[in-house]
Amino acid sequence: MDEQPTFTLNGRAQSLAGVDPRQSLLRWLKQQRLHGSKEGCGDGDCGACTVALVDVRGDGSAHYQAVNSCLLPMGSLPGREVVTVEALADGERLHPAQQAMVECHGSQCGYCTPGFVMSLFVAGHNGEAGDTAIEGNLCRCTGYLPIRAAARRLADSPPPADRFAATIAAPRPPLPTVALGRYFSPTSVSAALALKAQYPDAMWINGATDLGVNLSRGQAVAPAFIALDRITQLHLITVTQDSLRIGASVPLTRIEQEVHGMFGALDDMLPWFAARQVRNRASFGGNLGSASPIGDLLPILLALDSRIHLRGVQGERSVAADDFFLGYRKTARADDELIVAVSLPRTAQQISASYKVAKRQSDDISIVAACFALQRDADGRVAQVRMAFGGVAATPCRALAVEAFVRGKILDEATVSETRERLRAAFTPLSDHRASADYRRALCANLFVRFVAEHCA
Ligand SMILES: Cc1cc2nc3c(=O)[nH]c(=O)nc-3n(C[C@H](O)[C@H](O)[C@H](O)COP(=O)(O)OP(=O)(O)OC[C@H]3O[C@@H](n4cnc5c(N)ncnc54)[C@H](O)[C@@H]3O)c2cc1C
Ligand code: FES
Ligand code: FES
Repeated sequence: MDEQPTFTLNGRAQSLAGVDPRQSLLRWLKQQRLHGSKEGCGDGDCGACTVALVDVRGDGSAHYQAVNSCLLPMGSLPGREVVTVEALADGERLHPAQQAMVECHGSQCGYCTPGFVMSLFVAGHNGEAGDTAIEGNLCRCTGYLPIRAAARRLADSPPPADRFAATIAAPRPPLPTVALGRYFSPTSVSAALALKAQYPDAMWINGATDLGVNLSRGQAVAPAFIALDRITQLHLITVTQDSLRIGASVPLTRIEQEVHGMFGALDDMLPWFAARQVRNRASFGGNLGSASPIGDLLPILLALDSRIHLRGVQGERSVAADDFFLGYRKTARADDELIVAVSLPRTAQQISASYKVAKRQSDDISIVAACFALQRDADGRVAQVRMAFGGVAATPCRALAVEAFVRGKILDEATVSETRERLRAAFTPLSDHRASADYRRALCANLFVRFVAEHCA
């Protein structure tokens, strides 16, 4: 392992010797008196702390990714490259992302501006400028019209011919195996498992979009971490005629781009899963590892009859999603096993869709998430149906009895109406600050009616 870990910040090598690996990049930047990246929330919600992280893919190509520096632990940085807002202007000459914000009057108090500028910088380089590039950035005072105008101006311009274009085009060697204190970043599954045997109290960590919140708040969390985000095997997406296999560490934005059109349910959910900065780091492995009852990807895995592939020192095994969730945040994964992939069968003639209902349309925690997958036979009868929900019980779960009622039936008005009543009675959710139990029950019922109206007419 690298004895003197460093990372590249704005083109210069920075020593990481003695740096607390659990500290966030944002805190560290402040200590270096780099105050350009702002702290709005410290929780991944506002985007004021956005920086560009260079993502090195398996083929050696490099890409800028907008990420929240408040969630990024310093331990994840050895061998990586980061660009912050301080580096953008070339002397007195503003970067096109900054110039567009100035010309479109996109900044009033300016607190959110460095975050917007960094999101636009990344989007400009990736050819993705436009509204979605700034979905993870909040502004409290300017109002979004001028900021969106700046994003559009950039989208209508050719990719910036700035000094970063040549840097990012150069191929990179694979990220090295490193450790910063007790934050280990192995590059193979077997090395990760060996570390886990050596440090049984260590926690797996991937994109740190869940764990980073705890770390950012200074919570102890675990005595050691084993990072899975630079293991190439966990970044593979494999498509065959029968199935789609997604490596546990693949960032959700890559899934959005690379398997679009394969499963309606995934296409529906991914744009509403957090914001782009979070999706650039968040993974299936982390969503399953947290096993939250409101994890948005989990009803999809249940409804699509997926399997979860686990690896431990004893070898690899796979568990049906149906058998994975055992209780509140308890799963069939042993502590020393890691999730290597999920696989989703590609079932002919299957219609699938998912829905997320939250207090705010985007970047919010679900009140209820629902996923439906259905096949009909030649007579129009329901041959197979799976209905899965998050936010209605201690685990994500299926409405098995209601599925059995629907199977074999034509989806006429009477069946849909009876299904709706049965779904309303299927769960006993809790009331909390997000919603009442009654509202959650009504959502389960009404989302099915919406699914039928939208996809089964
Ligand atoms: C602002 C914000 C918005 C969010 N919005 C959503 C949302 O809309 N929907 C939603 O579902 N979630 C949301 N989340 C939560 C989080 O982004 C997801 O749970 C994400 O999938 C976690 O992935 P990760 O790779 O970042 O996991 P990490 O934070 O790295 O890890 C999370 C947990 O999983 C474990 N783990 C990670 N990888 C593995 C593996 N391969 N094998 C075994 N265990 C593993 C870790 O030990 C840890 O317990 C949000 C978080 C933030 C900060
Ligand atoms: S400070 Fe709000 S997302 Fe980082
Ligand atoms: S310019 Fe003030 S918060 Fe956006």
